[in-house]
Amino acid sequence: MADTLTVTDDRTKKSYSFPITDGTVRAMDLRQIKTGAEDFGVMTYDPAFMNTASCQSKITFIDGDRGILEYRGYPIEVLAEHCTFLEVAYLLLFGELPNETELKNWVSEITHHTMLHETTKKFMEGFRYDAHPMAMLVSTVAALSTVYPEARNIHDASNRLHQIKRLIGKMPSIAAMSYRHNLGFPYVYPDNDLTYPENFMNMLWKMVEPKYVANPVLARAIDILFILHADHEQNCSTSTMRAVGSSHADPYLATAAAAAALSGPLHGGANEEVLKMLDEIGCKENVASYVRKVKEGHGKLMGFGHRVYKNYDPRAKIIKWTAEQVFAVTGRNPKLDIALELERIALEDDYFVKRKLYPNVDFYSGIIYQAVGFKPEMFTVLFAIPRTVGWLAQWQEMLTDPEQKIARPRQVYTGERARQFVPREKRTPVGVGIG
Ligand SMILES: CC(C)(COP(=O)(O)OP(=O)(O)OC[C@H]1O[C@@H](n2cnc3c(N)ncnc32)[C@H](O)[C@@H]1OP(=O)(O)O)[C@@H](O)C(=O)NCCC(=O)NCCS
Repeated sequence: MADTLTVTDDRTKKSYSFPITDGTVRAMDLRQIKTGAEDFGVMTYDPAFMNTASCQSKITFIDGDRGILEYRGYPIEVLAEHCTFLEVAYLLLFGELPNETELKNWVSEITHHTMLHETTKKFMEGFRYDAHPMAMLVSTVAALSTVYPEARNIHDASNRLHQIKRLIGKMPSIAAMSYRHNLGFPYVYPDNDLTYPENFMNMLWKMVEPKYVANPVLARAIDILFILHADHEQNCSTSTMRAVGSSHADPYLATAAAAAALSGPLHGGANEEVLKMLDEIGCKENVASYVRKVKEGHGKLMGFGHRVYKNYDPRAKIIKWTAEQVFAVTGRNPKLDIALELERIALEDDYFVKRKLYPNVDFYSGIIYQAVGFKPEMFTVLFAIPRTVGWLAQWQEMLTDPEQKIARPRQVYTGERARQFVPREKRTPVGVGIG
């Protein structure tokens, strides 16, 4: 069996044969298909990149039909059970799990990058009292570019690594500051004695006590949630990171752009929307009528469906287990009953079964976050902290891939051409553009 694709152009009756590698044909090969010397050649048309691979990657594997997610070849379930988030961050960035000494050094280096420059703190103080924490995070990450201008030297591997450590170290500090700003509390500086999730909790919740002591179950739950959110191959925000990074923008600006993409309700913003939806439903008894309305075309079930997973999202399973551990400490979030009922009804319903719509990672994460004490506005910020690792791993891979260039899709132009110009005084009103 030849690993080739043979196509015949019915316009010219000419046949072409293209290699099939890893289940793909090269879109550029299609340009050979022409009707004549003046013809540009055939392109592929793929709105929303439904069937286009934009890169080769060794970082994250997803089999959406079987519900498999692996980081660097390790199943997500195994990593969530046995590793810390910073251990997984090392794996994603460098391709191997660290040994004891490597992990100790890595943790120590990240820990020593948790402080923010005082000017960054002042910058954050300038936001309105009710600024959305995700908008604060996006803007502040971009502002780090002003503090570290050497980050522009993206071709120097050691400089890149330095910025990567800074970003991983500083994300929880920025996130915690945006949280406390919203509440009107003074900012808390990092405590280097604590682990990554404990220090985050310290910066969020320390009040007047001399030393913050984190609940170990909640700290571990946050660490597991961070592991589950660390990477997810070429999703909307990661593609943004690669696209912006491909213009050789510095990593702070590229990360800010990726975080902006994450903030949308169809992507990372979905976890906030799930809680709003559960609030709107109000109680278990209203679930059936809510599902009916969704099927009639009124809105979507937030936290359901995925572009890639057409089976149960493996992260949602781990999150459900983590929720039980958290509720043993915090008490059960009453929203869980509504969520379970919603899942039960939806999974039995033909509409959702036919479309392969299952709960995704965002469906249960918000319920845990709320039980731990976060307001829904913080949920996407909690997603952005760990996903920064994935963005940076993918950014590095893109920069060191000799096949990659500045990202620049083509278009199919459907507008007018070569129009006759009409002077302003002779134009008839078109009635658009003003309210
Ligand atoms: C994730 C998401 C954007 C994927 O979108 P997509 O791959 O473009 O899939 P489509 O929007 O084409 O959906 C396919 C069909 O399922 C329906 N559908 C998809 N998600 C749905 C949802 N959450 N609730 C109800 N119907 C949904 C669509 O209306 C469409 O129906 P149709 O074929 O009758 O037109 C989409 O499922 C969604 O909006 N989910 C809710 C937001 C969310 O949870 N996002 C977090 C993702 S981790």
